[in-house]
Amino acid sequence: MDSRRWHDWCTDRRPAEPAALSVKQWEEMDCQQRTAHTSELEQWLHQCYMATAQFDRVADGLSTIVDRNARTLPGAKEIPVLTGPNTIGKSVFARNWARERYLGWTAHAAAGAAGYPVWYPTPDVESDLCPVVFINLQDDARKKALDSQILGFFNLPSGVTAEETTRSAMRAVLRHRVRMVVIDDVNLLKTEWRGARQVLDHIKHINTELGENNASLVLVGANLIGGGLLADPQINGRSKTFAVAQYEIDSLEEKRNWQRMIRDIESRLLPHLPAGKPGMLCENLAGEIWFRTQGYFQDIMQLIRDATIAATRDGTHEIRRDHLDAVTLSDRASAQSRAMEDRTGGVDRVKVPTASAGNGTPRNRKTKAVMDTRPQRRARLSCSPQTAAEDQ
Ligand SMILES: Nc1ncnc2c1ncn2[C@@H]1O[C@H](COP(=O)(O)OP(=O)(O)OP(=O)(O)O)[C@@H](O)[C@H]1O
Ligand SMILES: [Mg+2]
Repeated sequence: MDSRRWHDWCTDRRPAEPAALSVKQWEEMDCQQRTAHTSELEQWLHQCYMATAQFDRVADGLSTIVDRNARTLPGAKEIPVLTGPNTIGKSVFARNWARERYLGWTAHAAAGAAGYPVWYPTPDVESDLCPVVFINLQDDARKKALDSQILGFFNLPSGVTAEETTRSAMRAVLRHRVRMVVIDDVNLLKTEWRGARQVLDHIKHINTELGENNASLVLVGANLIGGGLLADPQINGRSKTFAVAQYEIDSLEEKRNWQRMIRDIESRLLPHLPAGKPGMLCENLAGEIWFRTQGYFQDIMQLIRDATIAATRDGTHEIRRDHLDAVTLSDRASAQSRAMEDRTGGVDRVKVPTASAGNGTPRNRKTKAVMDTRPQRRARLSCSPQTAAEDQ
């Protein structure tokens, strides 16, 4: 990814949401029209970003720090860090959040001959305006590689020495008016090897250099808590960590959050599932969806997306249990739901006292979750419909 590709990605029009059709309108279409409309729906679903309360809170937190960093005195700034388990949507969120910031910061910029935003350090010098640098860290990244990636974002070559490369990277930050550098996949930083000290010191150094220009360093990575990066005193004196997690459904509060999230997705989809009724997912299938995905967003989205398309193709136009059953999810999700099924054997319906559900040991927690969700394959999540309805 370089700055121009980043700009193109930020400004490209997303696939438009297809028109919502009634069952009658679907039935009146000929085969070709139906295929075309279904494919439009599929394309939209694949590109559609689903906002969630969990990540909305992170967006507010990150933006607050970045804005504060822009106003405080030059020097080392706070480092916002986003972490959580794999495949729960950190990167998708970080890109969308950074995109929003980029669009805001470039909204009133002049456009150069190539159509990209520019600014004028002096009246006769034109420079690309790139307020956001977004980098996916390379595997095995070390000190020089970090700076090289910043330079690579501007299509500039690295220097011969690490020091030269750092200097060039920081000159580029100034020249292109960078306001934040987002580094994704920082879990790939080698913090266990002998030279780790150098890498960690260097992150601190980059943060200070960026801070001299009132810019922020934002770090995103999987499972950072307890790792070398956040344990480092140079970093953790400055870092503010936002931890996100997969959805759990042990306590009443967790069940509420889960149903709320499913209800939000459901309300985006219902216009395109004209035979579906409110509650189709968040009441009738919330337990089953959790059982299949264990609350991991990648699997949730795939399950619901594929079920929507299947329900559209077969003309039922509402998501039912068998649509979910037909979707194959990640190996992680399949293995975990198989393991849960094995542990609970033939249990069909076990009543779980919701008041004490939040106090279980980790082992109990999972068992309770299974007991809670397995019956949903036939019935409904035990706290619904009140929990979802309370918010309406
Ligand atoms: N808010 C969202 N809306 C729609 N789809 C999403 C959303 N968040 C995640 N997804 C889906 O989940 C997939 C995994 O998300 P993502 O790559 O952001 O996870 P991650 O937490 O960064 O994982 P890793 O730690 O392995 O890098 C995405 O490719 C996308 O299909
Ligand atoms: Mg990621």
